Amino acid sequence: MDLILIGFMGSGKTTISQRLGQRLALPVTDLDQVIVATAGQSIATIFAEQGEAGFRRLETQALAQQVARPGILATGGGVPTQAQNRFLLHRQPAPVVLLEIAPETAYERVKADKQRPLAKRLDLAELAALKVTRQANYQRCADLIVDANQSPDLIVDEILTKYQ
Ligand code: S3P
Repeated sequence: MDLILIGFMGSGKTTISQRLGQRLALPVTDLDQVIVATAGQSIATIFAEQGEAGFRRLETQALAQQVARPGILATGGGVPTQAQNRFLLHRQPAPVVLLEIAPETAYERVKADKQRPLAKRLDLAELAALKVTRQANYQRCADLIVDANQSPDLIVDEILTKYQ
């Protein structure tokens, strides 16, 4: 990959990856979409039928398969929580950019989304607590941390200033 985006649910990884892909004329891959296409099931169905552990196995397989391909990769919010995924991220050369979002904003963006099984069952305080438990792993993986509470244009400019 040329650049990998990580961050909590609702941090804007999908939006920012699309914009980066346009600006850099690079292909964009969304890891959740790869998992859905490979499994032939929605994220919600995978969670319902195989549990979170089953989803994480598929996610690690998809990451291993995609990580060396050219382009921009938007990962799922849980990718840095798995040691194997952190290993895959560390040993590949592309910069890993963490989109850092306020939990309140993340909550507003994801609360109505039925395709995010983890977010669906959490209130704001629980979502914020989940983010706290993940924070060290997000930071451990990141080469650059960008404030994702800004407008998408500013976020993209900040990333391109550093890596273009
Ligand atoms: C998850 C985030 C989701 C998706 C799955 C699990 C997580 O991706 O991979 O629902 O554990 O944070 P987004 O970050 O794109 O919402």
